[in-house]
Amino acid sequence: MVSTDLVVFGASGDLTRRKVLPALQALMRRGDAPEPVRVIGAGRSEFTVESFRSLLAEDPATVQLAPTAEWVHLDYGQPDHYQALQELLSTDRVGVFYLATPPGTFGQIIESLAAVGLNRRGDPARRVVVEKPLGHDLASSRVLNQQLREAFSEPQIFRIDHYLAKDTVQNVLAFRFSNAIFEAIWNRTLIESVQITAAEEEGIGQRAGYYDETGAARDMLQNHVLQLLALVTMEPPTTFDAADIRKAKLEALRAVAVIDPSQAVRGQYDGYLQERGVRPDSRRETYVAARLMIENWRWDGVPIFVRSGKALRRRVTEVVIRFREAPHLRLDGRRQRPVPTVLLIRIQPEEGITLRIGAKLPGRRFEVVPAGMRLEYSRLSRTALPDAYEHVLSEVLRGGHSVFPGGEEIDRAWEIVDPLIRAWEADGHPEGYAPGSWGPDGAHELVASTSGGRWITVGEEAALPLRASAMATGR
Ligand code: BG6
Repeated sequence: MVSTDLVVFGASGDLTRRKVLPALQALMRRGDAPEPVRVIGAGRSEFTVESFRSLLAEDPATVQLAPTAEWVHLDYGQPDHYQALQELLSTDRVGVFYLATPPGTFGQIIESLAAVGLNRRGDPARRVVVEKPLGHDLASSRVLNQQLREAFSEPQIFRIDHYLAKDTVQNVLAFRFSNAIFEAIWNRTLIESVQITAAEEEGIGQRAGYYDETGAARDMLQNHVLQLLALVTMEPPTTFDAADIRKAKLEALRAVAVIDPSQAVRGQYDGYLQERGVRPDSRRETYVAARLMIENWRWDGVPIFVRSGKALRRRVTEVVIRFREAPHLRLDGRRQRPVPTVLLIRIQPEEGITLRIGAKLPGRRFEVVPAGMRLEYSRLSRTALPDAYEHVLSEVLRGGHSVFPGGEEIDRAWEIVDPLIRAWEADGHPEGYAPGSWGPDGAHELVASTSGGRWITVGEEAALPLRASAMATGR
């Protein structure tokens, strides 16, 4: 069996230690990784092989990786420093270069790898993995894609969006395309609006250095939320191979109109300016909401509302499809307002799918109330939901591309959010909101004219009452 060297640039960083290396150890324990995978840390910090091994050995989540680990000291932009790496990587092993470094260093690393021939352009046994943020705006995203493509061929490149590796995100595809009944109603004829929420309860924590430069539109909307939107709105792919899924997502994103800043709202939670490391006069948004339109046959005229933010009421990622109301319902000579049918696809937590329908309340009276039909995702299998990073990493080690967005999708997603980012950078201030709330008032006004006039979240009783008596004959 071919074994693998995982070269991690930025190996002492937070992401690597919290997510990437523990995921690797978990895969190896389960026998889901090609054995053995050797970790080679590379970077500017003053590690030695011994101190790097002790760092890994100290943490139970990475201890197993310690005995064979190596450390290479290098300056990212100095190709002559890459000599030691060249010596370590033998030709008969797979070599994966994982860039877990600040985005400003990607270009230097890629160019240095190419300068010394470590990229072996076109050889699928050499791979490069890049973590978001992939660019800061459209222009920088294009530059990064250019650098990547010059040094590596497309099958060698893995761009991470860990949302795509969440099981429940992949389940959107299974739900839509393995059940013919939904595909038939998945369009403007029966869908009134779509809402996508990616809410977090936590504030920015210790990440001011990154976050105050980035903000919610770049951190979540440009990538995770738009990828989710692409899966929900794309046409059926010809096959479920990575290339066909990418093609279908790209088409979907091409149809999304670039965001009109007048149809978007930014918020900043009260107390953000006091977070350690945040500029005292920062105008950075910790919340974004927008109304998007998709210009194609399937979706014309259907508003797609998206929102994402920090320090909100609770952590929930969810897609809500609100269907058109029944056109006619007359009882006792009076026109009644029917219960809207709503499909809630809960990505996390309490993963599952709920279909809210109108049902007759048991009893003599003819009273229709909203009722739920629910799939609890965790009940489908005894195995725990796999961690998204484990999924990402096992795909990289196998050389599979199914959970990675393509470069063109990433550029297109930047095109969609660029006008918003530029408008916000040029002018104005975010609206304040209380931590623990559902965000700024403006976001509620955004949906006021459609979607039943409110953001819908299952469990939020006020938003979608479980037992609201929608119509009653009184008999
Ligand atoms: C990351 C963002 O990509 O996703 C973070 O940079 C965010 O700001 C995180 O907290 C959310 O991921 P998850 O998997 O916890 O929903």
